[in-house]
Amino acid sequence: MPGVNIGVDLGTTSIVIYVEGKGIVLSEPCVAAYRREDGALMAIGKKASEMVEKARDEILVIKPMTNGIVSDFTATRHILTGFLSRICKNMIFRPNVVVCVPSMATDLEKRTILDLVTAAGAAKACLIEEPLAAALGAGLGSDRPMGSMVVDIGGGTTDIAVITMGCISVSRSVKVAGNALDEAIIRHVRRERDVIIGARTAEEIKKRIGCARLRGVELGMAIKGKHFVTGLPVSIEVNSSEIYLAMRPQLELIAEAVQEVLETTPPELSGDIAETGICITGGGALLPEIDEMFREKTGVRTVIAEDPLNCVAFGTGVALAHMDILSQNGYVFRARGDIGEYMCEPDSTAD
Ligand SMILES: Nc1ncnc2c1ncn2[C@@H]1O[C@H](COP(=O)(O)OP(=O)(O)OP(=O)(O)O)[C@@H](O)[C@H]1O
Ligand SMILES: [Mg+2]
Repeated sequence: MPGVNIGVDLGTTSIVIYVEGKGIVLSEPCVAAYRREDGALMAIGKKASEMVEKARDEILVIKPMTNGIVSDFTATRHILTGFLSRICKNMIFRPNVVVCVPSMATDLEKRTILDLVTAAGAAKACLIEEPLAAALGAGLGSDRPMGSMVVDIGGGTTDIAVITMGCISVSRSVKVAGNALDEAIIRHVRRERDVIIGARTAEEIKKRIGCARLRGVELGMAIKGKHFVTGLPVSIEVNSSEIYLAMRPQLELIAEAVQEVLETTPPELSGDIAETGICITGGGALLPEIDEMFREKTGVRTVIAEDPLNCVAFGTGVALAHMDILSQNGYVFRARGDIGEYMCEPDSTAD
């Protein structure tokens, strides 16, 4: 294989990689595991997240992305380098990489990602906003004049954008998404049931019995945790109504952000959205009845993208195939030496 281009969705929860001509070749948790004793890297991705269950005390598992941005530089570099070198091992030339950033990322955050991707083995990298990639991946054309709205509900951020002619017209990124729903469940179970549960259990509850509206038929789920007062292990049953009520304030924050973007959308594009509807992508799109919730709050028809978890990565693939159009809107590949261009913020010269 000579050299092919690659698309990377570097998310808070998972990293998904698209290879030109092949499609999605990798989807793994965005985590790295280190030996506590000496800080040696032990594993990345799926292997790293499996390790935490087996040897909690000896192994430190790091999720290096927080709310869509890099919070641990070294762990992100280990993950990117590990996966890119695995994928590119038979390539003669280094790949050009399209990588996503949240729509409200600062210049410094963009520079960090660009620096990491090129340090991890890319010849050049092109940054595109996550909701633009999500829209492209959901099949909302890259060059059509119609406006369309995409809401990407990930683990750390919900990115909302109105897209037209292959670029973003209005956008907003809020730090309320899947993780915030899990945290709301943890708080509820501790406060109302006196039981402490971990993030993994909370996520499982959300996936099994969570819903974006009150369910017509109540569901129950048995869970294990630790009693808040005695510290002893306990088993309790939670039901779908209490879980919905626990998540509701966070869901409302997401819906309000969507309403605000709709309010600031230029009138011609609003008309288009009324016709084309809102498209939901990201793991949050899998929460039952989330489409109904948006329809109820906004009055706009809402659809869930096909394969919402992989939509952004597919979009990076579409971007790779349409770089001629995207480059007209400033989406270009940059080499490591060009990254100074992103140093526009006063404090970004500090490093
Ligand atoms: N069936 C499901 N029901 C509800 N939520 C789900 C379901 N499946 C996955 N999720 C949630 O989706 C989120 C992960 O989505 P995704 O992979 O799109 O995030 P990400 O791209 O890694 O994060 P970000 O875009 O914020 O950086 C997690 O919070 C996960 O709990
Ligand atoms: Mg994402």
